[in-house]
Amino acid sequence: MQQLNNKHILLGVTGGIAAYKAAELIRRLQDHGAEVRVVMTPAAQEFITPLTLQALSGNPVHTNLLDPAAEAAMGHIELARWADLVLVAPASANFMARLASGRADDLLTTLCLATDAPIAIAPAMNQAMWRDTNTQQNIAALKSKPVAIFGPADGSQACGDIGPGRMLEAEQLAELAAQQFESQALDGVKVVITAGPTREAIDPVRYISNHSSGKMGFALAEAAVQAGASVILITGPVALTTPERVERIEVENALEMHAAVMDAIKTCQIFIGAAAVADYRPVEAAAKKIKKSSDNMTIELIPNPDIIADVAACEDKPLTVGFAAETDNLAEYARAKLEKKKLDLIIANDVSNPSIGFNSDENAVTIYWAAGEKTIPQSTKAKLARQLIEEISNRYSAEN
Ligand code: PMT
Repeated sequence: MQQLNNKHILLGVTGGIAAYKAAELIRRLQDHGAEVRVVMTPAAQEFITPLTLQALSGNPVHTNLLDPAAEAAMGHIELARWADLVLVAPASANFMARLASGRADDLLTTLCLATDAPIAIAPAMNQAMWRDTNTQQNIAALKSKPVAIFGPADGSQACGDIGPGRMLEAEQLAELAAQQFESQALDGVKVVITAGPTREAIDPVRYISNHSSGKMGFALAEAAVQAGASVILITGPVALTTPERVERIEVENALEMHAAVMDAIKTCQIFIGAAAVADYRPVEAAAKKIKKSSDNMTIELIPNPDIIADVAACEDKPLTVGFAAETDNLAEYARAKLEKKKLDLIIANDVSNPSIGFNSDENAVTIYWAAGEKTIPQSTKAKLARQLIEEISNRYSAEN
């Protein structure tokens, strides 16, 4: 079950007799290489102590949204970002109702709203509660979000009833959790991604650059790692934390990015150019700060190498995926770049829309290739990156 190796599982435990099985579940997830952090509702703590789950997980257990000490160690938003999967086991009928209605009235429901990670729940309750119309409506609503529903199993229950509502066993839950990462389509594949802007020096204190924040490229790096790839992220100057398990190479300008890319792609199978590389640089960067004067000033610019075109021109070229940042004629300009740069795919985004593209947390794109196109509607860059990596890995698998 390699899929869980190095994965971050945020285990939510809610109130029910099956909460005792959370202890075993932590062990099974860890056996398969996952790191586990636990969040407990107040009701869960009536069935099993936070101390037990802390000792087993090796991490402090989070119990309260408004706990300054816990927030200082790892705030709830950081926890939500940390997770590769949120698994709630057991999930009570009450928790499912709150999750289905989008409540954020305790730490666990707040995390579920704040996370970009997939969410899975393992219901556990009395058979009559499980069969109740309200519960079934909540299940249907959760499935459509989508939340993965693990179980429940049929059988004898703690209350003496027999029927559906038993939580699945720990090993079954670990297996289902592993299947959430089934897009191991990039297992053993090396991916090189560029991100962020480049800075082209005018003098020691001034430069030409653009508004790229690096968020799109970093999200792609994270999604590629989650799909099993080993990732080299070559980034211009950005203020972003390196996703876990990603090798980061920092560069300043287009020439440095070009050199780093040409070196890194020698052994890679997929190259994704999400960086906004400056097309031009000053012919010469002044060695000392240029003094202000009242005269007009002219800076002569020369073209930078086209990094992605050079990658695509390599004899043993990787699957080469570009981005097109356009303010108008999206399809026409993107297709022209696809052809001119000899790319396999190009992902076009409309950077005239301030809610997407440069420096925003969201994006909306259309992927173009020689024989077709596919539009992916607006969502967070994290979600979009997962969809893009799936499309790219489908294309890669089809060709290999
Ligand atoms: O970083 P964010 O704030 O999250 O914003 C994301 C983004 C808008 C920067 C990203 O989604 C994006 O569109 N990146 C490409 C921006 C761009 O420079 O597009 P372009 O149309 O100028 O370039 C086309 C392709 O050629 C790109 O893959 C680019 O990386 C590549 N290129 C361009 C010039 C050059 N000298 N070398 C290149 O490799």
